[in-house]
Amino acid sequence: MLSKKIEEALNAQINAELWSAYLYLSMAAYCHSNGKPGMGKWYEVQFQEEQDHAKIFFNYVIQRGGTVTLKPIDAVPTEWKSLLDVFESTLAHEQKVTALINELFALTAAEKDYATQSALKWFIDEQVEEEETAQNIIDNLKMIQDNGYGLYMLDKELGARTYTQAAPLASAQ
Ligand code: FEO
Repeated sequence: MLSKKIEEALNAQINAELWSAYLYLSMAAYCHSNGKPGMGKWYEVQFQEEQDHAKIFFNYVIQRGGTVTLKPIDAVPTEWKSLLDVFESTLAHEQKVTALINELFALTAAEKDYATQSALKWFIDEQVEEEETAQNIIDNLKMIQDNGYGLYMLDKELGARTYTQAAPLASAQ
């Protein structure tokens, strides 16, 4: 049984993950419109992954006998100054998500909800990866600057990314 506080926090996290999905779909559109189809594809995969994150929390609330309450999803940005700005905004956003997961983890400790704490461990590891990936792309973009061949190669590399269902969903099937 979930406490009201934990249930509310998990519902807020479902909303935050769906907002992230919406943000990355917007970034995908920006990349496609700016002649970077590989980066657009990379963000489309990111969009799918965030939907998975929302679904993991959704499944968990139901599994624990809680109630899922879907709230409106706020508007997302649609314009960025540059490709570097897009990826720097991605890193800043992921750092915010990490802080949200950490707050949730702290709440489970305060509420002595160790089952939810255990379920959050996958997200803690995932956030390390999310931040590292965004940082690596930023480093590459800074190194390449506006070198056309470098940008072409990076776009090609990022476009090779494929979607894999998140492990907690894959194992639930
Ligand atoms: Fe759901 Fe990118 O964190």
